[in-house]
Amino acid sequence: MTKNELIQKFEAVFGEGGEIVTVFSPGRVNMIGEHTDYNGGHVFPCALTIGTYFAARKREDTKVRFFSGNFEKAGVVERDITAMEFDREKGFSNYLMGMVWTYAQKGMVVDAGMDIYLWGNIPNASGLSSSASIEVGMGKVINVLFGFDVCNKDIALLGQYSENNYNGVNCGIMDQFAIAMGKKDNAIFLDTATLEYEYAPIVLDGMKIVIICTNKKRGLADSKYNERRTECETALAELQKVLDIKALGELTEAEFEANVDAIKCPVRQKRARHAVYENQRTVKAVDMLKSGDVEGFGKLMNASHVSLRDDYEVTGIELDTIAEEAWKIEGCVGARMTGAGFGGCAVAIVKDEAVDAFIKNVGENYVKKIGYAADFYVVEIGDGTGILE
Ligand code: GLA
Repeated sequence: MTKNELIQKFEAVFGEGGEIVTVFSPGRVNMIGEHTDYNGGHVFPCALTIGTYFAARKREDTKVRFFSGNFEKAGVVERDITAMEFDREKGFSNYLMGMVWTYAQKGMVVDAGMDIYLWGNIPNASGLSSSASIEVGMGKVINVLFGFDVCNKDIALLGQYSENNYNGVNCGIMDQFAIAMGKKDNAIFLDTATLEYEYAPIVLDGMKIVIICTNKKRGLADSKYNERRTECETALAELQKVLDIKALGELTEAEFEANVDAIKCPVRQKRARHAVYENQRTVKAVDMLKSGDVEGFGKLMNASHVSLRDDYEVTGIELDTIAEEAWKIEGCVGARMTGAGFGGCAVAIVKDEAVDAFIKNVGENYVKKIGYAADFYVVEIGDGTGILE
């Protein structure tokens, strides 16, 4: 959507006049490093060229009015800066109000209302972080409209704060960071323990990144996510009785295996094993990619899926079917689930000449086994959240 189209949509709902700010905030896909970001490990996500578009204008009163082009039937959803509490009935607007609330919590009080039009082309509930895209985009909107001077990296932290404390999902920093800090044609190699990061060009000569959406209804994903996080925290506390560490991400595979008996329950041992091995795998995978070894990178993507399936147990039959069917395709360099899991999406690197066969075969076999269709997207890596010019 262009800036002009966006402004027209805004004016059709909220009327003309005043200064209108326009922002684009991408979705993200994580190439490798899953469920490591709340364990002090590394992640390797990139921003996509699909995302959420915002047009916004300040109001004279205290009303905050949202209109989503994706949920037109919901009409204008009205909130107020004098009553910012989470309100389950008001659906998506909680991600937006959460940011108003978060700015206030951090001493940057939003002292007037706003009219906001938004529209996104990230598939709904796909695990490509439409919620973080909305949070970071809203953070940018507030920043510009109210003249706060928060850099994108800090907007990412505000987004995570809002998700944790307003929306009640105990997520790590990966999604908001990838969205706020993304760079065209690059993935971000981020150390979540220190927030040090480096851009690594994704040079895929003759290959494409394909995202496969399971279309599974998400259900209990948030509560299971929080449960995994608690399991890792308990395992860490048990390891800390014998090791001087702050996070699972500090351990090598060998250090972990030498001390695994400190973790008293076999399920927690598996969870922690995934966190440790996945972090090490991510560091190795990025090294391989930097040295031009895309095939090696792909093999580690496959290994990541296996670990998420067997040790972390967050895949499920839908994501497993996609990964296993993808691995059978000649020309599929690597494939794995991406994001939190429990449905959502998988990501694959596929050679150009194999993309059509990949979509056809994986698609057909998915329907046969699961009973409904998956969606396929050949995606591009884009820039992070910014003003739409
Ligand atoms: C979700 C969370 C992230 C991260 C991933 C799993 O996307 O929001 O912080 O934990 O799951 O890697």
